[in-house]
Amino acid sequence: MPTIIDGKATSAQIRAELKEKTAKLKADTGIIPGLAVLLVGADPASQIYVNSKEKACKEIGFNSIIKRMPADSSEKDVLAVVEAWNNDPAIHGFIVQLPLPKHIDEDKVINAVSPDKDVDGFHPASLGRLVIGLPCFVSCTPAGIMELFKRYNIDMKGKHVVVLGRSNIVGKPIANLLYQKTPEANAVVTICHTGAKDFSVYTKQADILIAAVGVPDLIKAEHVKDGVVVIDVGINRVDDDTKPRGYRLTGDVDYAQVAPKASAITPVPGGVGPMTIAMLLSNTFKSASGELK
Ligand code: GUN
Repeated sequence: MPTIIDGKATSAQIRAELKEKTAKLKADTGIIPGLAVLLVGADPASQIYVNSKEKACKEIGFNSIIKRMPADSSEKDVLAVVEAWNNDPAIHGFIVQLPLPKHIDEDKVINAVSPDKDVDGFHPASLGRLVIGLPCFVSCTPAGIMELFKRYNIDMKGKHVVVLGRSNIVGKPIANLLYQKTPEANAVVTICHTGAKDFSVYTKQADILIAAVGVPDLIKAEHVKDGVVVIDVGINRVDDDTKPRGYRLTGDVDYAQVAPKASAITPVPGGVGPMTIAMLLSNTFKSASGELK
Protein backbone atom coordinates (compact mmCIF):
# COMPACT_ATOMS: atom_id res chain seq x y z
CA MET A 1 0.00 0.00 0.00
CA PRO A 2 1.20 3.55 -0.68
CA THR A 3 2.43 6.10 1.82
CA ILE A 4 -0.52 8.37 2.57
CA ILE A 5 0.76 11.95 2.45
CA ASP A 6 -1.11 13.48 5.37
CA GLY A 7 -1.61 17.19 4.73
CA LYS A 8 -3.83 17.64 7.75
CA ALA A 9 -1.16 16.40 10.19
CA THR A 10 1.62 18.25 8.35
CA SER A 11 -0.39 21.48 8.40
CA ALA A 12 -0.97 21.10 12.15
CA GLN A 13 2.77 20.53 12.64
CA ILE A 14 3.67 23.66 10.63
CA ARG A 15 1.14 25.75 12.55
CA ALA A 16 2.59 24.50 15.86
CA GLU A 17 6.09 25.46 14.67
CA LEU A 18 4.82 28.90 13.62
CA LYS A 19 3.15 29.41 16.98
CA GLU A 20 6.52 28.92 18.71
CA LYS A 21 8.38 31.14 16.24
CA THR A 22 5.71 33.85 16.62
CA ALA A 23 6.07 33.87 20.42
CA LYS A 24 9.86 34.17 20.01
CA LEU A 25 9.56 36.97 17.42
CA LYS A 26 7.26 38.87 19.76
CA ALA A 27 9.57 38.37 22.76
CA ASP A 28 12.69 39.37 20.79
CA THR A 29 11.33 42.29 18.75
CA GLY A 30 7.80 43.14 19.87
CA ILE A 31 6.56 42.37 16.34
CA ILE A 32 3.22 40.55 16.04
CA PRO A 33 2.61 39.25 12.51
CA GLY A 34 -0.55 40.79 11.05
CA LEU A 35 -2.55 39.14 8.25
CA ALA A 36 -5.49 40.96 6.67
CA VAL A 37 -8.18 39.52 4.43
CA LEU A 38 -10.57 41.50 2.26
CA LEU A 39 -13.83 39.75 1.44
CA VAL A 40 -16.13 41.45 -1.04
CA GLY A 41 -19.63 39.97 -1.20
CA ALA A 42 -20.97 36.83 0.43
CA ASP A 43 -19.72 33.88 -1.65
CA PRO A 44 -20.39 30.91 0.73
CA ALA A 45 -17.12 29.06 -0.02
CA SER A 46 -15.14 32.28 0.50
CA GLN A 47 -16.83 32.90 3.86
CA ILE A 48 -15.77 29.43 5.03
CA TYR A 49 -12.16 30.05 3.90
CA VAL A 50 -12.05 33.44 5.57
CA ASN A 51 -13.40 32.14 8.87
CA SER A 52 -10.88 29.31 8.95
CA LYS A 53 -8.06 31.77 8.16
CA GLU A 54 -9.14 33.93 11.10
CA LYS A 55 -9.27 30.94 13.45
CA ALA A 56 -5.82 29.76 12.31
CA CYS A 57 -4.34 33.26 12.89
CA LYS A 58 -5.74 33.46 16.40
CA GLU A 59 -4.43 29.98 17.29
CA ILE A 60 -0.82 30.85 16.47
CA GLY A 61 -0.83 34.38 17.91
CA PHE A 62 -1.10 36.49 14.73
CA ASN A 63 -3.19 39.62 14.50
CA SER A 64 -6.05 38.92 12.12
CA ILE A 65 -7.87 41.71 10.32
CA ILE A 66 -10.94 40.88 8.28
CA LYS A 67 -12.75 43.47 6.24
CA ARG A 68 -16.09 42.55 4.71
CA MET A 69 -17.49 44.76 1.98
CA PRO A 70 -20.86 44.48 0.22
CA ALA A 71 -21.00 42.75 -3.18
CA ASP A 72 -21.93 46.03 -4.90
CA SER A 73 -18.78 47.84 -3.67
CA SER A 74 -17.06 49.77 -6.43
CA GLU A 75 -13.65 48.81 -7.81
CA LYS A 76 -12.41 52.18 -6.58
CA ASP A 77 -13.47 51.38 -3.00
CA VAL A 78 -11.74 47.99 -3.13
CA LEU A 79 -8.55 49.57 -4.51
CA ALA A 80 -8.68 52.15 -1.71
CA VAL A 81 -8.57 49.38 0.92
CA VAL A 82 -5.64 47.74 -0.89
CA GLU A 83 -3.80 51.06 -0.94
CA ALA A 84 -4.46 51.65 2.77
CA TRP A 85 -3.17 48.17 3.66
CA ASN A 86 -0.08 48.59 1.47
CA ASN A 87 0.79 51.53 3.74
CA ASP A 88 -0.21 50.06 7.11
CA PRO A 89 2.89 48.92 9.03
CA ALA A 90 0.86 46.62 11.33
CA ILE A 91 -0.24 44.56 8.32
CA HIS A 92 2.63 42.36 7.13
CA GLY A 93 0.64 40.52 4.52
CA PHE A 94 -2.85 40.59 3.08
CA ILE A 95 -5.02 38.90 0.53
CA VAL A 96 -8.09 39.88 -1.41
CA GLN A 97 -10.30 36.82 -1.40
CA LEU A 98 -11.15 35.58 -4.90
CA PRO A 99 -13.43 35.38 -6.77
CA LEU A 100 -14.38 39.05 -6.75
CA PRO A 101 -17.80 40.22 -7.99
CA LYS A 102 -17.89 40.35 -11.80
CA HIS A 103 -17.82 44.16 -12.08
CA ILE A 104 -14.40 44.30 -10.39
CA ASP A 105 -11.29 43.65 -12.49
CA GLU A 106 -9.37 40.96 -10.55
CA ASP A 107 -6.11 41.58 -12.41
CA LYS A 108 -6.24 45.26 -11.55
CA VAL A 109 -6.73 44.44 -7.85
CA ILE A 110 -3.97 41.79 -7.81
CA ASN A 111 -1.61 44.29 -9.47
CA ALA A 112 -2.39 46.92 -6.84
CA VAL A 113 -1.17 44.72 -3.94
CA SER A 114 2.37 45.64 -2.90
CA PRO A 115 4.68 42.71 -3.79
CA ASP A 116 6.19 43.20 -0.30
CA LYS A 117 2.87 42.13 1.25
CA ASP A 118 1.68 39.73 -1.45
CA VAL A 119 1.36 36.65 0.79
CA ASP A 120 -0.90 35.03 -1.84
CA GLY A 121 1.99 35.20 -4.33
CA PHE A 122 -0.44 36.23 -7.08
CA HIS A 123 1.26 39.50 -8.15
CA PRO A 124 3.08 39.29 -11.51
CA ALA A 125 6.27 40.47 -9.73
CA SER A 126 6.04 37.53 -7.31
CA LEU A 127 5.51 35.01 -10.12
CA GLY A 128 8.28 36.61 -12.21
CA ARG A 129 10.74 36.38 -9.32
CA LEU A 130 9.75 32.74 -8.79
CA VAL A 131 10.46 31.93 -12.46
CA ILE A 132 14.00 33.33 -12.30
CA GLY A 133 14.70 31.78 -8.91
CA LEU A 134 14.71 34.93 -6.74
CA PRO A 135 13.32 35.01 -3.19
CA CYS A 136 9.57 35.75 -3.30
CA PHE A 137 6.23 34.88 -1.82
CA VAL A 138 5.25 31.57 -3.38
CA SER A 139 1.51 31.07 -3.79
CA CYS A 140 0.20 28.91 -1.02
CA THR A 141 -0.89 25.69 -2.77
CA PRO A 142 2.40 25.21 -4.67
CA ALA A 143 4.33 26.15 -1.52
CA GLY A 144 2.31 23.54 0.38
CA ILE A 145 3.12 20.86 -2.21
CA MET A 146 6.86 21.66 -1.98
CA GLU A 147 6.63 21.43 1.81
CA LEU A 148 4.98 17.98 1.56
CA PHE A 149 7.79 16.76 -0.74
CA LYS A 150 10.34 18.05 1.77
CA ARG A 151 8.72 16.61 4.88
CA TYR A 152 8.04 13.23 3.25
CA ASN A 153 11.62 13.09 1.88
CA ILE A 154 10.45 12.75 -1.72
CA ASP A 155 13.54 13.45 -3.79
CA MET A 156 12.72 15.40 -6.95
CA LYS A 157 16.16 15.41 -8.59
CA GLY A 158 15.97 14.04 -12.12
CA LYS A 159 12.41 12.80 -11.64
CA HIS A 160 9.85 13.33 -14.37
CA VAL A 161 7.06 15.44 -12.92
CA VAL A 162 3.90 15.80 -14.97
CA VAL A 163 1.73 18.75 -13.96
CA LEU A 164 -1.84 18.51 -15.17
CA GLY A 165 -3.27 22.04 -15.38
CA ARG A 166 -1.77 25.45 -16.17
CA SER A 167 -3.50 27.88 -13.81
CA ASN A 168 -1.61 30.94 -12.54
CA ILE A 169 -2.24 29.83 -8.97
CA VAL A 170 -1.13 26.17 -9.11
CA GLY A 171 0.03 24.71 -12.44
CA LYS A 172 2.38 27.46 -13.58
CA PRO A 173 4.06 28.15 -10.22
CA ILE A 174 4.53 24.49 -9.20
CA ALA A 175 5.98 23.61 -12.62
CA ASN A 176 8.39 26.55 -12.39
CA LEU A 177 9.45 25.67 -8.86
CA LEU A 178 10.18 22.06 -9.72
CA TYR A 179 12.64 22.58 -12.57
CA GLN A 180 14.77 25.12 -10.63
CA LYS A 181 18.36 24.05 -10.07
CA THR A 182 17.93 23.85 -6.30
CA PRO A 183 18.44 20.96 -3.86
CA GLU A 184 14.68 20.63 -3.27
CA ALA A 185 13.79 20.59 -6.98
CA ASN A 186 15.90 19.87 -10.09
CA ALA A 187 13.16 17.75 -11.66
CA VAL A 188 12.26 17.44 -15.34
CA VAL A 189 8.81 18.94 -15.80
CA THR A 190 6.05 18.45 -18.35
CA ILE A 191 2.97 20.68 -18.23
CA CYS A 192 -0.08 18.98 -19.68
CA HIS A 193 -3.37 20.79 -20.31
CA THR A 194 -6.63 20.73 -22.24
CA GLY A 195 -4.71 21.33 -25.47
CA ALA A 196 -3.29 17.78 -25.27
CA LYS A 197 -4.98 15.28 -27.63
CA ASP A 198 -4.56 12.49 -25.09
CA PHE A 199 -3.35 13.47 -21.61
CA SER A 200 -2.59 9.85 -20.73
CA VAL A 201 0.39 9.85 -23.13
CA TYR A 202 2.01 12.21 -20.62
CA THR A 203 0.58 11.05 -17.29
CA LYS A 204 1.74 7.46 -17.95
CA GLN A 205 5.33 8.73 -18.04
CA ALA A 206 5.10 10.54 -14.70
CA ASP A 207 7.29 9.56 -11.75
CA ILE A 208 5.36 12.26 -9.92
CA LEU A 209 1.91 13.37 -11.04
CA ILE A 210 0.40 16.67 -9.87
CA ALA A 211 -3.25 16.94 -10.86
CA ALA A 212 -4.81 20.41 -10.68
CA VAL A 213 -7.63 20.53 -13.22
CA GLY A 214 -10.87 20.47 -11.22
CA VAL A 215 -12.37 17.42 -12.96
CA PRO A 216 -13.68 14.86 -10.44
CA ASP A 217 -11.92 11.46 -10.53
CA LEU A 218 -10.38 12.14 -13.97
CA ILE A 219 -7.21 10.10 -13.41
CA LYS A 220 -7.81 6.34 -13.45
CA ALA A 221 -5.49 3.39 -12.85
CA GLU A 222 -4.70 3.01 -16.57
CA HIS A 223 -3.42 6.62 -16.73
CA VAL A 224 -0.47 6.12 -14.34
CA LYS A 225 2.50 3.80 -13.98
CA ASP A 226 3.33 1.61 -11.00
CA GLY A 227 5.10 3.41 -8.17
CA VAL A 228 3.91 6.90 -9.14
CA VAL A 229 3.77 9.64 -6.49
CA VAL A 230 0.39 11.37 -6.77
CA ILE A 231 -0.39 14.90 -5.59
CA ASP A 232 -4.10 15.57 -6.00
CA VAL A 233 -4.93 19.29 -5.87
CA GLY A 234 -8.57 18.89 -6.94
CA ILE A 235 -11.33 19.59 -4.43
CA ASN A 236 -14.53 18.78 -6.31
CA ARG A 237 -18.05 18.52 -4.95
CA VAL A 238 -20.07 15.67 -6.38
CA ASP A 239 -23.72 14.96 -5.57
CA ASP A 240 -24.15 12.13 -3.08
CA ASP A 241 -27.55 11.47 -1.54
CA THR A 242 -26.05 9.16 1.07
CA LYS A 243 -24.21 12.10 2.69
CA PRO A 244 -25.97 14.44 5.13
CA ARG A 245 -24.86 17.51 3.13
CA GLY A 246 -26.00 15.91 -0.16
CA TYR A 247 -22.50 15.93 -1.64
CA ARG A 248 -19.04 14.48 -1.11
CA LEU A 249 -15.60 15.88 -1.86
CA THR A 250 -13.40 14.14 -4.36
CA GLY A 251 -10.13 14.97 -6.07
CA ASP A 252 -9.04 14.94 -9.71
CA VAL A 253 -7.70 11.43 -9.10
CA ASP A 254 -9.85 8.33 -8.66
CA TYR A 255 -8.27 7.44 -5.32
CA ALA A 256 -9.70 3.90 -5.05
CA GLN A 257 -8.27 2.98 -8.46
CA VAL A 258 -4.96 4.84 -8.35
CA ALA A 259 -3.82 4.40 -4.71
CA PRO A 260 -2.98 0.67 -5.11
CA LYS A 261 -0.56 1.53 -7.96
CA ALA A 262 1.03 4.53 -6.22
CA SER A 263 4.07 4.61 -3.93
CA ALA A 264 2.69 7.74 -2.22
CA ILE A 265 -0.54 9.70 -2.60
CA THR A 266 -2.41 12.65 -1.08
CA PRO A 267 -6.01 11.97 -0.06
CA VAL A 268 -8.92 14.38 -0.71
CA PRO A 269 -9.89 15.80 1.70
CA GLY A 270 -6.88 15.96 4.04
CA GLY A 271 -4.04 16.19 1.51
CA VAL A 272 -3.02 19.40 -0.23
CA GLY A 273 -6.04 21.43 0.97
CA PRO A 274 -5.04 21.90 4.63
CA MET A 275 -1.52 22.96 3.58
CA THR A 276 -2.77 26.14 1.89
CA ILE A 277 -3.66 28.04 5.07
CA ALA A 278 -0.46 26.83 6.77
CA MET A 279 1.58 28.32 3.92
CA LEU A 280 -0.39 31.59 4.02
CA LEU A 281 0.57 31.88 7.68
CA SER A 282 4.15 30.92 6.88
CA ASN A 283 4.36 33.62 4.17
CA THR A 284 2.97 36.18 6.60
CA PHE A 285 5.52 35.17 9.22
CA LYS A 286 8.32 35.57 6.64
CA SER A 287 7.05 39.05 5.84
CA ALA A 288 6.84 40.07 9.50
CA SER A 289 10.25 38.67 10.44
CA GLY A 290 11.96 40.05 7.32
CA GLU A 291 13.07 36.56 6.22
CA LEU A 292 12.47 37.35 2.57
CA LYS A 293 14.44 40.59 2.47
N1 GUN B 1 -10.04 31.87 -3.15
C1 GUN B 1 -9.85 30.53 -2.99
N2 GUN B 1 -8.59 30.27 -2.61
C2 GUN B 1 -7.96 31.46 -2.52
C3 GUN B 1 -6.64 31.85 -2.16
O1 GUN B 1 -5.76 31.03 -1.86
N3 GUN B 1 -6.39 33.18 -2.18
C4 GUN B 1 -7.33 34.11 -2.53
N4 GUN B 1 -6.98 35.41 -2.52
N5 GUN B 1 -8.56 33.78 -2.87
C5 GUN B 1 -8.88 32.46 -2.85
